[in-house]
Amino acid sequence: MKAKIQEKFEALFGEEGILYASAGRINLIGEHTDYNGGYVFPGAINFGIMAAIKPNGTNTVKLFALDMDEYVEFEVGSEELPSKHWPKYIFGVCHEILKRGGKVEGFNAVFAGDVPHGAGLSSSAALESTFAYALNDLFNNNSIEKYELAKIGQSTEHNYCGVKCGIMDQFASLFGKEGSLIRLNCKTGEYKYFPFHPKGYKLVLIDTCVKHLLADSAYNKRRESCERAAAAIRKNHPEVDFLSDAKRLWLDEVRGEITEEDFIRAEYVIGEVQRVLDVCDALERDDYETVGEMMYQTHFGLSHLYEVSCEELDFLNKLARKCEVTGSRVMGGGFGGCTINLVKEDLYDHFVETAVEKFTEKFGHAPKIYDVVISDGARKL
Ligand code: GLA
Repeated sequence: MKAKIQEKFEALFGEEGILYASAGRINLIGEHTDYNGGYVFPGAINFGIMAAIKPNGTNTVKLFALDMDEYVEFEVGSEELPSKHWPKYIFGVCHEILKRGGKVEGFNAVFAGDVPHGAGLSSSAALESTFAYALNDLFNNNSIEKYELAKIGQSTEHNYCGVKCGIMDQFASLFGKEGSLIRLNCKTGEYKYFPFHPKGYKLVLIDTCVKHLLADSAYNKRRESCERAAAAIRKNHPEVDFLSDAKRLWLDEVRGEITEEDFIRAEYVIGEVQRVLDVCDALERDDYETVGEMMYQTHFGLSHLYEVSCEELDFLNKLARKCEVTGSRVMGGGFGGCTINLVKEDLYDHFVETAVEKFTEKFGHAPKIYDVVISDGARKL
């Protein structure tokens, strides 16, 4: 990928660019907890975005997306949002840096990536993080803190792409470290690396290759449900800043005041925050059976309470149970994308073969299999 990117950069701009990269992410557990101030437990993966970038001494940003074979330019500070989707991420990152008093001048860039789109592996966060990291290095002497870079990516989603996401994806993409998952407290920003080398197990993602329409608006609606539930609880317990601060009992107190839908959404979130802590404890004891059981519980919650699963994902989850896979659940925002599976090495081949066969039989197309390796996040190459 490196050579191709540099070759194109030279062809377009007559010199070599400086290379930066960032990664997609997985999340072992802690789904839809980030925007509720709870815990998440992600790691960066060996699928990412790479870019060659160089300041060009003008006020123009010149971008070439190798995978799409598309060229776009815009002026730094211009209010005119690019019409294509992918440049919005880079446009947003530039704006968010400027908004915070940082510096961005014109630059040339060529980028490419191998994070599958729509699979829930955060290809957009990888793109935002690559550029946020690079522009901080090139124009700001790395004076913007890494956590702030993650917020710059998050604000890009909020303000230019219409997704009211949490901080998890951008955080994982920037802070990822080879061989470690990171438990992040999304309320305080405190985080801790957990080495993750489950002996005798593998992590495998199975991509349904479906992305249901309106996923973004459904995502934003989930967030609103949680905010309404938190507001109701706050009336009795003013210390509740986010839903994750609430005890289960406090939710029961407001059952009659909120809709049943908001209630079950909140019920899921409060349970999930606790599951992240339980999984971290279990990992410290090398107790993968408990980790796996929690993953199944999360899937149940995401499917029946939070209602962000779909037929294809539920099918894969049930199949995993049948094949005695240790843990399995829908990963990421939901409404399609992947399941993440923790599977014993000696069951791996049987499970993957069965999943491909049965899924194809049922849905008429094959799922994709990704063996992920926990890798480094944003960096200069
Ligand atoms: C998407 C969002 C994240 C997070 C997950 C669900 O990936 O971008 O912020 O909310 O969904 O856990």
